[in-house]
Amino acid sequence: MKEVTSFSKFSKKQKIDFLIKTFFNGSFDIRERIESFWHKSESFQRAFDEFSENTITNFFLPYGVVPNLMINNDLYCVPMVTEESSVVAASAKSAKFWMTRGGVKTKVISTAKVGQVHFFWYGQTPRLESFFKGLVPELKKCVAPLVHSMEKRGGGIKSIELVDKTSIEKGLFQIHVKFETCDAMGANFINSVLEAFATKLKESVEASTFFTSEERKIDVIMSILSNYTPECLVRSEVSCSIEDLDHLGLSMDPEVYADRLRKAVLIANSDVYRATTHNKGIMNGIDAVVLATGNDFRAVESCAHAYAARSGQYRSLSDVKIEDGSFTFSLELPLALGTVGGLTSLHPLAKISLEILGQPSAPKLMEIAASIGLAQNFGALNSLVTSGIQKGHMKMHLFNILNHFNTSEDEREKAKAFFVDKVVSHNAVKEFLNGLRKYH
Ligand code: MEV
Repeated sequence: MKEVTSFSKFSKKQKIDFLIKTFFNGSFDIRERIESFWHKSESFQRAFDEFSENTITNFFLPYGVVPNLMINNDLYCVPMVTEESSVVAASAKSAKFWMTRGGVKTKVISTAKVGQVHFFWYGQTPRLESFFKGLVPELKKCVAPLVHSMEKRGGGIKSIELVDKTSIEKGLFQIHVKFETCDAMGANFINSVLEAFATKLKESVEASTFFTSEERKIDVIMSILSNYTPECLVRSEVSCSIEDLDHLGLSMDPEVYADRLRKAVLIANSDVYRATTHNKGIMNGIDAVVLATGNDFRAVESCAHAYAARSGQYRSLSDVKIEDGSFTFSLELPLALGTVGGLTSLHPLAKISLEILGQPSAPKLMEIAASIGLAQNFGALNSLVTSGIQKGHMKMHLFNILNHFNTSEDEREKAKAFFVDKVVSHNAVKEFLNGLRKYH
């Protein structure tokens, strides 16, 4: 394709025209297809268009719900947005099993978020430290109007620390700030505070009479929140007697089954190839809730994986304990989520999700998302150490292939019966349908 200039200034129609001309030989079908995904309400569509840039249409994903997830003795119906077959079904199956065994017990351990100002300053660290001590009250004062409403809600700045990073490179320091952002994810609030700190720091260093002229030189590189929030931590666990696991309809002794689950986690803890897939399974559940509630799944993902690698080796985020005839399956991870502000209040379906969840606080949403992650991981490991993952996947895979071939209700029923004990592949389904259709 040739370079296109001023694309962002094109109207939506012009952008679509450009795509049709450049990539689809001017086909009108494509325009119809693109436009068929526009929302019928103009105001909703305008909102969607304005979430991002260069928007031409909307991209649909399935929105499902998992009922019967018991969390701290309350029942939830959890909205999940995911395109992957079997994810919602696996969570629902686990939720149902654990509902009658006390449900998920979950607890938010901490809720601190972090932001940093990274800068270079060349001098003796103790001199900067004593200057910084005097600067802290001024830093707080300069952001007072910004933090006022957050403080009224019980949040604000929790700590401001100067960190010496000169072992990385001469002159490198940072201001490391901890925040409480209550029910907001808080990215805008944190970044605004940090940028105000950076300006104040630079002005104060440059105007300082305490410093020599050499020491008055400072280079602020950047001010930005950190998506690593190890102190915004939640833990969920389920527990039952090993005997009770037999109610999963096992074809093996429950002791053996529990030990196979323990070994599955052991493998994920010691092998990065397995750990990545194991944690991906956890995020299958968590991301789906994060998306359904209009939260930032990239932030949640990068944080979860950084946390999984905190020991220096990337490990499982979940754990199994077998003690005195009892089986406990747990998950602990940081989750920086919000239930006010941002997309949570702008996306009409995010608003519906929060309504279904009973307008949770951010900590409550952390508990819900972690509990779905736990249910999802239990469902995946349960399949993996028993029948294997393909059995469950194949059914959904079959439905997707049948949709591709525009099958009738009768053909679907016949295909379901035929493939019940066979490997599902695109070709196998095509052949089966060809056979059926030949005689009609
Ligand atoms: C597939 O999306 C997720 C699993 O691979 C997770 C796992 O292996 O634990 C089934």
